[in-house]
Amino acid sequence: MPRLIETETDDRIELGDLIEALETGGFDPEDEESIVAFGPALRALSNNRRFLGDLIIEELKQNCSGQRRKNQYTPQVFVLHGSSGKYLIRANFWPAETDSVVVNSGKDPFFYELPHDHNFSFLTVGHHGPGYWSDYYEYDYERTVGYSGEKVDLRFVERSRLDPGKVLLYRRHRDVHRQLPPDALSISLNILALSPASEFRHQYLFDIERSEIVKVGNPSSLESLVLLAGHCGGEEGRALVTDFADHHPSDRIRFAAVRAQAALASSADDRISVYEAAIGSDSPYVREMAAQEARRLEAVRPWLESVPAA
Ligand SMILES: [Fe+2]
Repeated sequence: MPRLIETETDDRIELGDLIEALETGGFDPEDEESIVAFGPALRALSNNRRFLGDLIIEELKQNCSGQRRKNQYTPQVFVLHGSSGKYLIRANFWPAETDSVVVNSGKDPFFYELPHDHNFSFLTVGHHGPGYWSDYYEYDYERTVGYSGEKVDLRFVERSRLDPGKVLLYRRHRDVHRQLPPDALSISLNILALSPASEFRHQYLFDIERSEIVKVGNPSSLESLVLLAGHCGGEEGRALVTDFADHHPSDRIRFAAVRAQAALASSADDRISVYEAAIGSDSPYVREMAAQEARRLEAVRPWLESVPAA
């Protein structure tokens, strides 16, 4: 269950005040207590009932040029401030199940009923409407390798709602939620705690009934670029693939580079050998993924050997 932050306050601030506090108040995205310290300021911004409507009207007058420039999320998200590498402030819109956007687009675009954790910590406050529901679970990230189908000890905590004014800290790699639509359109405000490593930390999608990982939910564009570098980058590209396979700090990128090396192999035997060598990796993730690929290739070896070389 995310950590409940007590923030009873009638203070009301502007978005600029919150940004200034984050910039000058020693916000540390790696320190849970530092993040928690900004809970009251987020609540005070939420007490300001005008700022969000005013900002949306301004964006509409500018043909949404600001959002087009700085918002990499789906239209459900309105980015409020994102210039710092340490944090991002955003508003999230949560339609109800009966709202036409859910009726016509389904629940997946809003992450409803897709149990997941987060690869960053964030503060959230219920800003408008009754608030979305969640079934909350916890798990132990440090005991997790991260491959699809891996069993995980998911411990149910409770079902609760992000009520108006309620401030929670979602702790990265610990709090899992199965999010459910609110009873009426709702809005939450977030302060995301970011770091350069956030992209490479795993976010997982879970199967609650089977208590296992479905897949990594935040694939990096680097993974497909590494494959392309091997195929299209000539000698320099192949050298980069080798370097990434041996030294990249992210085990997900290291395995992507191993896949790129295997894809360059000229025979089924050589391809399997690449994966067998990677089973000796010091990374449990690379070891398991390589073992899975080696087994998969062994199973289809007769078919691979029947395909004429290009
Ligand atoms: Fe979430």
